[in-house]
Amino acid sequence: GRVAVLMGGWSAERAISLRSGQAVLHSLRTAGVDAHGVDADRDVLQVLQRGHFDRVFIALHGRGGEDGVVQGALELAGIPYTGSGVAASAVAMDKLMSKRLWRGAGLPTPEFCVLQPGFDPGAVVAALGLPLIVKPALEGSSIGMTRVNRAEELVQAHATAAACGGPVLAEAWITGQEYTAAILDGEALPLIRLETPRAFYDYEAKYLAGDTRYLCPCGLPPEEEARLQTLALEAFAAVTARGWGRVDLMRDESGQAWLIEVNTVPGMTDHSLVPMAARAAGLDLEDLVLRILDTTFV
Ligand code: DAL
Ligand code: MG
Repeated sequence: GRVAVLMGGWSAERAISLRSGQAVLHSLRTAGVDAHGVDADRDVLQVLQRGHFDRVFIALHGRGGEDGVVQGALELAGIPYTGSGVAASAVAMDKLMSKRLWRGAGLPTPEFCVLQPGFDPGAVVAALGLPLIVKPALEGSSIGMTRVNRAEELVQAHATAAACGGPVLAEAWITGQEYTAAILDGEALPLIRLETPRAFYDYEAKYLAGDTRYLCPCGLPPEEEARLQTLALEAFAAVTARGWGRVDLMRDESGQAWLIEVNTVPGMTDHSLVPMAARAAGLDLEDLVLRILDTTFV
């Protein structure tokens, strides 16, 4: 049947979504699928209905696309789509909700607090220590995030995050190594370890600079990699995510693992992490997009 690849949208990650969407579209076509790109900036539902699409491959990142809004509209319209449903998408887009859920499930995630307007920087530093990281709860691609080294920087960091809209959180800094686990159809793919020379793996590092090192195989002993993969699957299940996605985590110097976030529509550009992990598992981009398409739920 006909497949629409939804991309673009109006979130701050629009440009990245267009790159992901084009990569998905190209790969689906190469694999022989009757696929068409649809920019979700327009009246999505009308376009999808007029185009008589049987399925939708969601390649939207951020709010309005990765957060359950489009998923709910597609449920109403009765059009099957890839990836997580409404509730999981909404929870995973929201870093505060994800962390509360993980805590409730007994899963490890760094200490955090919500920064309300007028918050007391001294109390935040007393609770979380320094450095710490300030994040908008509802953003992706590290947009609006600041590493804070001194208490005096907190107010500006809060303002930067608050400008993105939605709640703002401060999170304890984890010193250690950063890993990501791509999830495909109930299994974790080989872990990737990320090494950035920057303060953290920020937007520049993700999409513009070429200075990140990606290690896959990740260098951990097999049983330790398996332990982190299991934790990633538990984190994915705890937010009721399904189909495919990516779980970001840290491993500190004592070997303790910490959950950072779940992405229910992770980047799919040719430089993105899920395609990289899939390659390590023997799947090229065409195999990968077909496998994701196969996880479509009705
Ligand atoms: N939010 C970006 C697209 C990612 O998770 O890859
Ligand atoms: Mg994210």
